[in-house]
Amino acid sequence: MFISFYTVVAVSLGLCSTAVALASIQRNTANISCRYLPVDKEWPGSTDWDALNITVGGNLLRGEPLAQSCYQPHENLAKCAEIRKSWGFDSLYFDDPVNVMSPFWLNNSCNPFLSSLTNACTLDNVASYAINVTDAASIMAGIEFTQRKNIRLSIKNTGHDYLGRSSGKGSLALWTHNLRDMSIIMNYTSSQYSGPAVKIGAGMQSREVDQIAGKHGLRVVSGLCPTVGLAGGFSQNGGYGQLASLYGLAADNVLEYEVVTTDLRHLTASPSTHADLYWALSGGGSGNYAIVLSQVVKAHPDGQVTGATFSLLNTNSTAFWSAIQTWYQQSPRFNLIPGFSASWIISRELFRLTAATLPNGTASDLDAILQDFYQVITELNMTFVSKTTIVKPSFVDLYNTLVPPSHADASFPANNTIGSRLVPTSVVQNNLSDLLDIYQRILHDETVPGGVTVVGGTSNNVSHVNIGVDPDSNAVLPAWRNALFTSSAAISFPDNTTVEGLQLVQAKVNTWQDWVKDLTPGSGSYINEATYDNPDWKSDYYGKNYGRLLQVKKKYDGKFSLWQHTSVGADTYWQENAEGRLCRLSY
Ligand SMILES: Cc1cc2nc3c(=O)[nH]c(=O)nc-3n(C[C@H](O)[C@H](O)[C@H](O)COP(=O)(O)OP(=O)(O)OC[C@H]3O[C@@H](n4cnc5c(N)ncnc54)[C@H](O)[C@@H]3O)c2cc1C
Ligand SMILES: *[C@@H]1O[C@H](CO)[C@@H](O)[C@H](O)[C@H]1NC(C)=O
Ligand SMILES: *[C@@H]1O[C@H](CO)[C@@H](O)[C@H](O)[C@H]1NC(C)=O
Ligand SMILES: *[C@@H]1O[C@H](CO)[C@@H](O)[C@H](O)[C@H]1NC(C)=O
Ligand SMILES: *[C@@H]1O[C@H](CO)[C@@H](O)[C@H](O)[C@H]1NC(C)=O
Ligand SMILES: *[C@@H]1O[C@H](CO)[C@@H](O)[C@H](O)[C@H]1NC(C)=O
Ligand SMILES: *[C@@H]1O[C@H](CO)[C@@H](O)[C@H](O)[C@H]1NC(C)=O
Ligand SMILES: *[C@@H]1O[C@H](CO)[C@@H](O)[C@H](O)[C@H]1NC(C)=O
Ligand SMILES: *[C@@H]1O[C@H](CO)[C@@H](O)[C@H](O)[C@H]1NC(C)=O
Ligand SMILES: *[C@@H]1O[C@H](CO)[C@@H](O)[C@H](O)[C@H]1NC(C)=O
Ligand SMILES: *[C@@H]1O[C@H](CO)[C@@H](O)[C@H](O)[C@H]1NC(C)=O
Ligand SMILES: *[C@@H]1O[C@H](CO)[C@@H](O)[C@H](O)[C@H]1NC(C)=O
Ligand SMILES: *[C@@H]1O[C@H](CO)[C@@H](O)[C@H](O)[C@H]1NC(C)=O
Repeated sequence: MFISFYTVVAVSLGLCSTAVALASIQRNTANISCRYLPVDKEWPGSTDWDALNITVGGNLLRGEPLAQSCYQPHENLAKCAEIRKSWGFDSLYFDDPVNVMSPFWLNNSCNPFLSSLTNACTLDNVASYAINVTDAASIMAGIEFTQRKNIRLSIKNTGHDYLGRSSGKGSLALWTHNLRDMSIIMNYTSSQYSGPAVKIGAGMQSREVDQIAGKHGLRVVSGLCPTVGLAGGFSQNGGYGQLASLYGLAADNVLEYEVVTTDLRHLTASPSTHADLYWALSGGGSGNYAIVLSQVVKAHPDGQVTGATFSLLNTNSTAFWSAIQTWYQQSPRFNLIPGFSASWIISRELFRLTAATLPNGTASDLDAILQDFYQVITELNMTFVSKTTIVKPSFVDLYNTLVPPSHADASFPANNTIGSRLVPTSVVQNNLSDLLDIYQRILHDETVPGGVTVVGGTSNNVSHVNIGVDPDSNAVLPAWRNALFTSSAAISFPDNTTVEGLQLVQAKVNTWQDWVKDLTPGSGSYINEATYDNPDWKSDYYGKNYGRLLQVKKKYDGKFSLWQHTSVGADTYWQENAEGRLCRLSY
């Protein structure tokens, strides 16, 4: 079976487990220590919601399960058949104000493939209401309402998040997907940077930005996945794509943010104004310090970009794993080549280079880099089922060839889960056989409950020296700077997987993340592609930045209106209990 490469690169899920259950906090409707849920008598009534709706100019939306047409009392078989067709595809979720992609975080509620069972159709973990955000005032109205009514606040953009950070049971969501302005600033000037830049509304998605920048002869650091929210969780958590080796992570490219803080201020955060907030927003975790309306990011002069792909089938296991070993042995050399970036996946049947990219390079430059590897394939008597070298005049042209818009949906299905770890060069030098053994154990794990497993890697050299950024300029996890590649393991599961199956899948991915962690002491994981239930999330996802980030959190979100799984402060002031309610731990 052919698994999309991107499937692997992209996904990670968090699971909601009993680990955070606060046995002592039961539903207590009179207890201001917990956020109210719709089941409580204190939950706002229709008069309250109507008043909020007027304040936000009629932009209040009620959350609805997407597949209610598959369930009584809304059953409609024709509509249900339609929703089943699109259920696995990320595009279904962008235009919905509350629903998110991850089946785990939907908790399978209202799964259109399980309606014949005794499955329910409720909102479960997703928001009850959403404001279709238009401007700073609509964000402020939402914040003020949740504070006054003691209900949970959440922020949803595209709904890609694997850690459940764009949902929240009984929350009012700020839905930022329709903030779609984008403008080019040819001569941005600050004390840190002078040159081209683009200003991006918080709802703009990766390929859209690539396309507009490309029309102006510019390129930006965008995602390997075309639909991630560039100014949402992508940049705020780091953000890698094929240009990261040349220009750094997305977070390294942000020049300023336009934000609303939960104390109702409309601010600009940059290296010269609210510099601490700027520092935290740039890689220190999404949706946790302020709500972003727009950001200005560096743009770079576009030009020729060369790419390569290949696929190798496992027709002889010894030769197949020798080839893979050779690839990893070569990877330290690849990472020293300026601008070179690569992403690959391995299943039991297939080793695929999804994309290698050499900005400014020619076909012969890229072929020369890969020549030693190709030579070993020949010596092993193996043949590629496909192998391409593609030269394009601009980044977006290459990107659209590697990830054709017509195939985007199929390449990035929602039904998967991922865990990952940043791997330094020493592991390839000293412990490569251990790493490859782990991959073989993962791929042959017979206890995975259905679905398809892939392992993979993405290599980008984002060291400070390589990309020319000051180590203190932002809150990106320091382990990124020494990483040779991110090592990921993902499971794609059938659309009708039960809640128990989803929980098993999540547990597997978490265990596999730990296996690679044992080989990489002191490193960490890319938070966007990591598990929500890793007990070492503070050190693994934030490293030495954690303490300083907590100070920024307290300063800008002093009422702790923002809460997310594995976000800085997530175990300090509030926690989610077993019923999904946020309850306060301390004052
Ligand atoms: C199929 C797939 C492919 C992916 N590919 C890549 C990739 O190539 N490279 C990569 O680096 N990552 C990739 N990711 C990870 C992706 O970057 C993260 O899931 C990221 O969080 C998505 O951000 P979003 O805003 O689009 O999504 P959402 O799920 O809507 O939001 C994610 C987080 O950002 C917060 N947030 C969103 N908007 C705002 C805002 N305006 N202000 C404040 N907080 C906000 C949310 O509260 C939440 O915490 C991929 C994920 C998937 C599912
Ligand atoms: C609210 O809940 C907390 C935590 O369980 C408890 O300590 C406190 O006594 C409760 N307060 C009231 C007024 O019930
Ligand atoms: C908010 O008002 C608009 C316009 O009157 C209406 O269409 C919408 O249904 C209202 N939202 C809610 C949740 O009632
Ligand atoms: C998920 O659904 C199951 C029942 O299917 C329920 O027991 C569990 O509490 C739910 N989890 C969350 C976090 O809502
Ligand atoms: C949200 O608002 C935008 C305009 O800002 C509008 O185009 C869109 O239709 C609205 N979405 C919904 C679901 O109401
Ligand atoms: C930007 O700066 C360049 C070089 O200084 C100049 O040639 C150009 O006219 C400027 N463009 C704009 C739009 O100001
Ligand atoms: C790459 O090409 C662009 C556009 O031609 C040019 O501006 C840039 O300086 C080049 N970068 C490198 C690292 O060679
Ligand atoms: C498989 O590959 C190995 C290593 O290249 C080789 O020694 C062996 O003969 C091959 N087996 C078959 C059946 O071709
Ligand atoms: C590859 O094939 C050649 C010719 O058939 C043979 O001599 C050689 O031993 C093979 N190499 C491997 C590694 O199997
Ligand atoms: C990244 O590039 C720099 C500069 O070329 C080099 O010193 C460093 O070793 C590289 N890092 C890795 C992990 O390969
Ligand atoms: C994931 O969902 C897609 C789209 O619905 C589907 O085609 C695919 O078969 C599913 N994956 C697995 C492993 O079942
Ligand atoms: C899921 O679908 C497969 C294939 O159609 C079927 O064999 C299996 O029984 C289904 N599982 C559930 C829980 O419905
Ligand atoms: C990795 O290799 C080094 C050098 O051989 C060895 O000292 C170390 O124990 C290995 N680490 C693990 C986790 O196996």
